[in-house]
Amino acid sequence: MRSDPQPLSPPAFADDLFAGERRDQPLDPGAIVLGGFASDRAQALFAAMETVLADAPLRHLITPGGWRMSVAMSNCGTFGWVSDRSGYRYDPADPLSGRRWPAMPALFTAFAAEAATAAGFAGFVPDACLINRYEPGARLSLHQDRDERDQSAPIVSVSLGLPATFLWGGPERRDRPRRVRLAHGDVVVWGGPARFAFHGIDPVADGTHPLTGAARYNLTFRKVY
Ligand code: SIN
Ligand code: FE2
Repeated sequence: MRSDPQPLSPPAFADDLFAGERRDQPLDPGAIVLGGFASDRAQALFAAMETVLADAPLRHLITPGGWRMSVAMSNCGTFGWVSDRSGYRYDPADPLSGRRWPAMPALFTAFAAEAATAAGFAGFVPDACLINRYEPGARLSLHQDRDERDQSAPIVSVSLGLPATFLWGGPERRDRPRRVRLAHGDVVVWGGPARFAFHGIDPVADGTHPLTGAARYNLTFRKVY
């Protein structure tokens, strides 16, 4: 008797079909999506991130207006981005513990420099890394990254886990944003003329990712001083 052939292993997760393949997508002068740039190091980046989070746990910050952010955040590096009723700022200490933020893992520093170079920004040395966790439904409304003192350095952003829709706007809040799909392993770099573009993340859809579970993580590397 014959039976239908059984696959030897379950089908690959869709993102993995493109693993190792780079799909670059320029957004604007100074801004580019380096598709799959982090794919081969995603697992190592995730493991290093978990080490950081063991020291400085994710938390939901309160905006100056009194809203609880749906994204959970933490940081590593010399400075960490925080928000509370008094405003937004970079702080050398974690307000939860009163201690300095965990050091930036060497892998993070090296990876961020490599991605920046690939986007045309050689010599990037980040001193801050914001870690964002989006559970399904979490979002980040349109904003500019403008709390950094160093305005010459780019922002390097790495997506891990569940996919998301990145909103890529222009220099003015009213500029209609483009919607860009970001998958596990994708990297976005923006600097130069695009440094202060408005951007955000649409509510993350339900799902489960083999590495991260029911969440999207994002690492953004910045140079504050
Ligand atoms: C951010 O704007 O800081 C994060 C963007 C993202 O999650 O991709
Ligand atoms: Fe941002």
